[in-house]
Amino acid sequence: MKKNGPATESMRDDLEEETLAEAREHTTSYEPYLEASLGLRNHWYASFFGEELSEGEVRGEMICGERIVFKRLDNQVFALEDRCPHRGSAFSARPECYSKNTLTCWLHGFTFDVRSGKLVEVLTEPGSKLIGKLQQKTYPVQEINGVVFVFIGDMDPPPAIEQDIQPKFLQSNLVVQSVARNKSRANWRLAAENGYDAAHLYAHRNAGLFKQIDIPVPLSTFPSNKGKVTELNGDNGPWGIVKFDDINIWHAEVDGTYITAPNVDPHLEHDNWDIEVGLFMPCGLEVDYFPAPGVLHFEWYTPIDEDHHLYIIAHGAICDTPESEVIFRSRCKKELAPLVWRSEGDNNVPVGDGDTWGFNNFDDWGREQMHHVYQYENFWRRERLFRPDYIVLRWRNLVSQRLRGIQKWGTWAPTRGWSPDGKNYDPKFGPK
Ligand code: FES
Ligand SMILES: [Fe+2]
Repeated sequence: MKKNGPATESMRDDLEEETLAEAREHTTSYEPYLEASLGLRNHWYASFFGEELSEGEVRGEMICGERIVFKRLDNQVFALEDRCPHRGSAFSARPECYSKNTLTCWLHGFTFDVRSGKLVEVLTEPGSKLIGKLQQKTYPVQEINGVVFVFIGDMDPPPAIEQDIQPKFLQSNLVVQSVARNKSRANWRLAAENGYDAAHLYAHRNAGLFKQIDIPVPLSTFPSNKGKVTELNGDNGPWGIVKFDDINIWHAEVDGTYITAPNVDPHLEHDNWDIEVGLFMPCGLEVDYFPAPGVLHFEWYTPIDEDHHLYIIAHGAICDTPESEVIFRSRCKKELAPLVWRSEGDNNVPVGDGDTWGFNNFDDWGREQMHHVYQYENFWRRERLFRPDYIVLRWRNLVSQRLRGIQKWGTWAPTRGWSPDGKNYDPKFGPK
């Protein structure tokens, strides 16, 4: 490849040719993972917090490219395909409910029982022959610890939900407090890998969180060897990997300039962090502990489509009494949640300013920065990984070996960039 001089058409051609050749050479041990840009099929996905859907309410979501409409009745959440079988309108665009159990399409009045998916009435042709014959697709739904999970796939019955949830999320006496649910502009795999990324602590080094709690932070932490990474068996729980980072990089040097995070004295030995991080299929993170001792931090990176994921964050703690639950929830809202997520962060603060961004707002921004090259410039095959990234490779290999299926665009999801509520539709970016 020519490296100097003005760019010419032929140089660009050379570069493209070289890039393509390089890409062709770079096959991987995790090809199924690379195909799963829309997510994994036949898995349970966290969709929203139960508190976001009160009794009788209806909401639409796109999960793994599938349009789904949810309704809560008698404190149970039901879900149907959000595409009217008559002429395709989305129920959730303008939900109409004439009874507790039903949902009516706003365009011509086809009315379905949300529990069974059966057509029970047609308001514009009472007694229609279609009544009792049309069956809308239903989705299995479960609500656990205030998080609503939906099953995307064909397995009937679906696998036990315990096989798709972070193990510590199911501990008894765990109290879970919602922190954030954001529609983020990056592929779900970049988000999952970022949550688990060993060396990206460097980018967090100036985070306001660390200054606030006043602890020294390394530039990087990662496991020293394979024994520090445990692969969990999926028989009773989910498949996943848990790492314990015992290598801590406290400072680095460039041409005589020392680089450290704030609060770090390059001449002192600091204690290693005692934090365990697990990433579980299909897309859940568990951090024990964060952002404070005794607090579990959970994240989900639920695919919306290839270019967006739902970034869902919750905190949990074991609370043995109603009083301790009240104290924990209040502490979450006032103290912990603002450290990790600031909903105004998207627009109101300068990019990369660690003092004013929530810790995870910064992650979200970082994933967005990576998305284009991975999704559209073939970076899944062009990246150049280094030693701390071996846990990312473990994750990709595990998913490739254990996934129950790969989600593809098909008859269930032909509409890219569609916005469930019809608002904020932006053809360039899709649903916000
Ligand atoms: S499109 Fe729904 S009733 Fe016609
Ligand atoms: Fe991060």
